[in-house]
Amino acid sequence: MQNKRKTSGQVEASASASASGTSAGSKGRDKPLVCGNWKMNHNHFEAIQTIQKLAYALNSDDYHHVEVCVHPPFTDLRSAQTVLQADNIPIALGAQDCHSADAGAFTGEVSAAMLAKLDVTYVIVGHSERRGLFGESDEVVNAKARSVLRHAMTPIVCVGETFDQRRAGEAHEVVSQQLAGSLDGLDEAAVGALVVAYEPVWAIGTGETATPSDAQDMCAHVRARISQGWGSAAAAGVRVLYGGSVKPVNAADLMEKSDIDGALVGGASLNAEEFARIVNHRLYAT
Ligand code: 13P
Repeated sequence: MQNKRKTSGQVEASASASASGTSAGSKGRDKPLVCGNWKMNHNHFEAIQTIQKLAYALNSDDYHHVEVCVHPPFTDLRSAQTVLQADNIPIALGAQDCHSADAGAFTGEVSAAMLAKLDVTYVIVGHSERRGLFGESDEVVNAKARSVLRHAMTPIVCVGETFDQRRAGEAHEVVSQQLAGSLDGLDEAAVGALVVAYEPVWAIGTGETATPSDAQDMCAHVRARISQGWGSAAAAGVRVLYGGSVKPVNAADLMEKSDIDGALVGGASLNAEEFARIVNHRLYAT
C-alpha cells in the first residue's frame, strides 16, 4: 500500500492551505514525497549527471505515484534548475537550508528569497546536522521556516532524538519540544501545508534504521502533537517523512505505515539508481 487516501479533513486542510498561499509545493498526503538530501556531496557537474540518470531511471507512472525532490548543495542549484527545466523533468528542486533574513550582512549565508528565484520548492530547515554541528536552536529553525513560507516555498522541518535521549526514554518529549519551538506561532493552515521529517539522530548515516513500527509510532506522535497544538486540520494535512538510513531494502516497509508520508534520504540518494529504487518502493512492496 503506497498511498494514503485523504479524509475530508485533509482535503479541507489542503484547500485552506492553498487559499492562504503558503503551500507552493504541497501536493497533499495522497502522494508519498521522497526527497534526496545530498548534503555536502556532488559538485554541479555531478549534480547534472545524477539528475539526468535519475530522470532516465524514472517514468511518468513513477511520477504519478510519487513526488520526487532533490536537495543539492547551494552551488549546484542553478545548474540543477536549468537541467530540470530544459529536459522537462518533473522532479522538484529543494535546498538544504537558508538564512531567515531576506538580505544583509550575513557572510556565507543564502536567503529564502534567493532560493525562491531558483524555483526551489522545498527547503530543509533544522536538520540535525545543522542543530548539532552548527548550534541551531528551535528559535532559529522557526525563523527559517517562517522565511521559507514568506517566499511561498514549503519548509521541511526536521526533528529527532539522539541515541542517549531515546535510551533515557525522552524521545517523545524531545520531539514534542522541537515541534513546539520550531513551529511556534504558525497558523493551522501553514502547519497543515508543511512537511515534518522525523529523523532519529542515531539512525542518520549509521545503517541503523528505526523499525517500521518505531518510525510509525513517532510519526503518529508528531501528528498527534500537531493536532493538539495547531488543530485537527493541520494534523490531517501535514506530511510526515521518515529519515535515517532509508535504503531500497527497507523503504517499502517504512512507507506503508499509515502516518509515514514519505522519506528524507541521505546517502542512498547520491546514487541515481539506488534512489530511483527508493522512489519506486511500491514495486518492491511485499
Ligand atoms: P542517511 O539516509 O544517510 O542516513 O541520512 C539521512 C538524512 O540525514 C537525510 O536528511
